Amino acid sequence: MENNPDKSFFDLFMLFIGALIGIVFGLVLLANYISGKTQQVFIMDEANYQAQIDARIRPVGRVALDGETIENAGEVVKIEPVAEVLSAVQVYNQACVACHGAGIAGAPKAGDGAAWAPRIALGEALLHQHALEGYQGLAGYMPPKGGHTNLSDAEIISAVEYLVEQAR
Ligand code: HEC
Repeated sequence: MENNPDKSFFDLFMLFIGALIGIVFGLVLLANYISGKTQQVFIMDEANYQAQIDARIRPVGRVALDGETIENAGEVVKIEPVAEVLSAVQVYNQACVACHGAGIAGAPKAGDGAAWAPRIALGEALLHQHALEGYQGLAGYMPPKGGHTNLSDAEIISAVEYLVEQAR
């Protein structure tokens, strides 16, 4: 076998290159493995980092139910429920006008002094009671709160006073 110096150099050279490529791959894999075990885990578990993410994805606002407290709520805006109280005229137009407007079904007509005078003479307390609890009279049937039981007592009473006012 002829000893060819070029060939043996070439063989050695290729072996060397191969080893280098192997080392490069090895290093890449090692670096990948180490960063997977350290860097990412380290960042994900970092309390500061977590807090920053929480802060970024926190909803702009939250509604707390009555009695519920939200931790770290920051600025709290308390919204008072709006209890709408109808005025006497509004109550009248909503609940009473159907019968008292034109004097339907025996209802004393609003503004009819003669129809209201004997009723007013019995005292406003009785009128309030009849309007609130309902009342079967000689002329007809007055339903409790005119059928609008969702209205408050005060609202009904204000409407009675409005009717009395109209009749004077
Ligand atoms: C469904 C018809 C109807 C509606 C609605 C109605 N009323 Fe009457 N109301 C009557 C009738 C009928 C009478 C007369 C009853 C009688 O004296 O026989 C009456 C009588 C009254 C009286 C006189 C009671 C008394 O002691 O003489 C008052 C006060 C009164 N209504 C207030 C109201 C008010 C306030 C509303 C609205 C919130 C209302 N009513 C809605 C039918 C109605």
